[in-house]
Amino acid sequence: MTRKILLNRRQILQLGLGGLTGIGTLALGQAKCLSKQLEKLDNPNRKFTVIGQASLKQRAAAKGLFYGAAVRINPLFQDKKFRANFIQECGALVPEWDLKWTSLRPDISSFNFTYADRLAKFTQSNGMLLRGHTLVWHESLPTWFQKEVNSANVAKILQQHIKTVVGRYARQVHSWDVVNEAIDIKSGRADNLRNTPWLQLMGPDYIEFAFRTAAQADPHALLVYNEYGLDYDSRDDEAKRVAVLKLLKDLKWRGTPIHALGIQAHLNGASTLFNSQKFRSFLGNVASLGLKILITELDVLDKNLPEDTTKRDQIVAAVYEDYLSAVLQEKAVIGVLTWGLSDRYTWLAEDNSSGKLLPLPFSLRPLPLDVNGNRKLAWNAIARAFDSAPRR
Ligand code: G3I
Repeated sequence: MTRKILLNRRQILQLGLGGLTGIGTLALGQAKCLSKQLEKLDNPNRKFTVIGQASLKQRAAAKGLFYGAAVRINPLFQDKKFRANFIQECGALVPEWDLKWTSLRPDISSFNFTYADRLAKFTQSNGMLLRGHTLVWHESLPTWFQKEVNSANVAKILQQHIKTVVGRYARQVHSWDVVNEAIDIKSGRADNLRNTPWLQLMGPDYIEFAFRTAAQADPHALLVYNEYGLDYDSRDDEAKRVAVLKLLKDLKWRGTPIHALGIQAHLNGASTLFNSQKFRSFLGNVASLGLKILITELDVLDKNLPEDTTKRDQIVAAVYEDYLSAVLQEKAVIGVLTWGLSDRYTWLAEDNSSGKLLPLPFSLRPLPLDVNGNRKLAWNAIARAFDSAPRR
């Protein structure tokens, strides 16, 4: 008899099962089928040879692309070696935390830009693009939000937030994730909108409202809709791709100032469900709306892979190269960011409510650099994908 476990989104992402099974539940018995899939992924003869020592940002720039990563304030300013690696490899920076409501908004009438300003200054002094993440999301809302925001004042509060935050960094931010993760194919709604506080308080028009407000605050920034769970040839990901395309078409039809789709790309090393042809046709459909595409939060979870790190690195690198080689063929794709640069600071190893490390069977290796900042096969795979990408 198999026990059913209900997992939330973050647990699914962190367990790496979003690309393996239907989102939401996992019968314990299904876990055993993982090993059959792994046999297909593990090809020890696959080489990831890279020519030269150029960094990821240099290889991306050579093709008219950019590469960067998400970062938190403490590792960047307290870990000297990590900071040097970040400057060497990254041409773009996205704050993992410091531009979110909880970090910026101690209370309904004030803003705290201390950390965001420090990161903005860092990008300026190091010639990096700065990404803004994120203006409207249903997570990381401060505790006062629920108590003090209602349908009468929500528009004013959202407008004030966007105008103040986007206005402060006008002409500095390359692109804003204006709205993040607004689609939920299990919401039961015809428009598949997620039942968030924003939808409850403002109705579906909150999305267009946010984009129009951001465009007024900084007409130079690229305005992005950011989403996860779009990558695999699974029933749920296919349904989400259809729903996201419908949302984008509707926004464009209304003349909304939306310029790009952000694809988070939190991939699962143990999934064999990536279908490059199907995914490229989705990218082509997005591009045909006149939208650019950014890969905004790329990482490859290796939690369900063999403990042996050589095997794990080999499989993770194959996933990176197969995914990016397909994606970078689409010229509407303008940049790639990984969600972290070094395994030492991956969100996948942490319980994000407490910030404490998760009790994992082994330390995870999802990112381009290892815990000591050494380049891994994953780094080679990304480098090779940039080297073989068509020039923009
Ligand atoms: O900085 C505070 C610290 O002062 C406090 O003591 C501690 C304990 O409460 O929390 C610390 O803040 C944590 C923050 O990360 C910085 O480390 C928050 O609790 C924690 O919730 C937050 O988690 C972030 C999570 O989004 C929620 O905002 C993760 O680092 C970040 O990787 C994750 O990123 C999301 C993207 O924004 C959207 N796409 C999915 C992705 C992964 O979930």
